[in-house]
Amino acid sequence: NYYAILMAGGVGSRFWPVSTQEFPKQFHDMLGTGDTLIQKTFNRLSNIIPNENIFILTNARYKELVFKQLPNVMQRQVLLEPAMRNTAPCILYAALKIQKENPNALMIVAPSDHWIENEQAFAENVKEAFDFCEQKDALMTLGIQPTFPNTGYGYIEYDKTAVTPIKPVQQFREKPDYETAKSFLAQGNFIWNAGIFMWSAKSVISAFRINQPNLYAIFESGVEVYNTDKEEAFIEENYSKSENISVDYAIMEKSENVFVLPATFDWNDLGTWGSLYDKLNKDNDHNAFVNARALTESASGNLIRTANDKIVVIDGLKDYIVVDDNEVLLIFPKAKEQNIKQILQKVKSKF
Ligand code: GDD
Ligand code: MG
Repeated sequence: NYYAILMAGGVGSRFWPVSTQEFPKQFHDMLGTGDTLIQKTFNRLSNIIPNENIFILTNARYKELVFKQLPNVMQRQVLLEPAMRNTAPCILYAALKIQKENPNALMIVAPSDHWIENEQAFAENVKEAFDFCEQKDALMTLGIQPTFPNTGYGYIEYDKTAVTPIKPVQQFREKPDYETAKSFLAQGNFIWNAGIFMWSAKSVISAFRINQPNLYAIFESGVEVYNTDKEEAFIEENYSKSENISVDYAIMEKSENVFVLPATFDWNDLGTWGSLYDKLNKDNDHNAFVNARALTESASGNLIRTANDKIVVIDGLKDYIVVDDNEVLLIFPKAKEQNIKQILQKVKSKF
């Protein structure tokens, strides 16, 4: 009864110039290990879920990339979205399809772009969550111990009196402002949402029915044609009617039956060049290299990446991101990495 939904439709704009709208980060080998992030995620899931039950959800424009990088998946496993509507619509659509195929389905919803250290611990956590969801009408998520007031994550307040590993959630707050995030950290019983969810198809569908009646109406009206040859036409015609909303805002913030299991594996959301730098091996001067042969002098704390193992010589540079990617050469202070998104807009309007 185990299924997976692998979400691979985001753009990853803070990883420009490597990640672009045409070729986003999940389809790149960001870590320089030989596998792309989506391949790594697929392999991780296939330790727990039968291969044929892993569905990949992505924008129609990434169809070729998916089949090229995951050559063993079948046509029916790849659900293509005709419009970008964030994560809530695609999750509801997939859940309804899966429920039609198997009314007792349990599913994990996973992003395609994370770094996870201990695959064994990951598998154990997911199993534990599945067992819980089998017993109970629950929306489960994995929690990560927070280390600083990051405003790019969801925060989960859990019941600190709970003695079981799986804890009832008091509130779920997606992307709070900085002051709020700081106060959450000070309270001690807040944890980051890893963005990895587990639930029965039945529970998640009912959460949508209660909290997002419009979205529910759109996708429920197609159930009859799901898993038939009329499905594609239905999606083509109706998908873009959905609101653009993430699953966090759509159901997690609003539901009463949310539970969190603090993860026992190391996790990084690989959202920026800096978070990638943190995960890479470094030389004695804390420089990290991906696809680059480098000669450095008086250089420290830099992340250097080229597209094709270029020789790079650097003297007198500290805490920079240097990325050479075919058309673009980026030389940017690590401390200002959050600005890359805005810089990209400027570049687009200028050139
Ligand atoms: N199929 C599909 N369609 N996938 C999408 C879409 C879409 O329209 N939009 C985003 N995704 C994919 C991304 O590729 C990524 O793998 C995943 O869904 C999550 O989207 P992000 O855009 O990366 O979300 P986020 O990082 O802002 O926030 C989420 O993750 C955080 C942890 O990394 C939230 O769940 C937060 O609460 C959480 O803390
Ligand atoms: Mg993310």
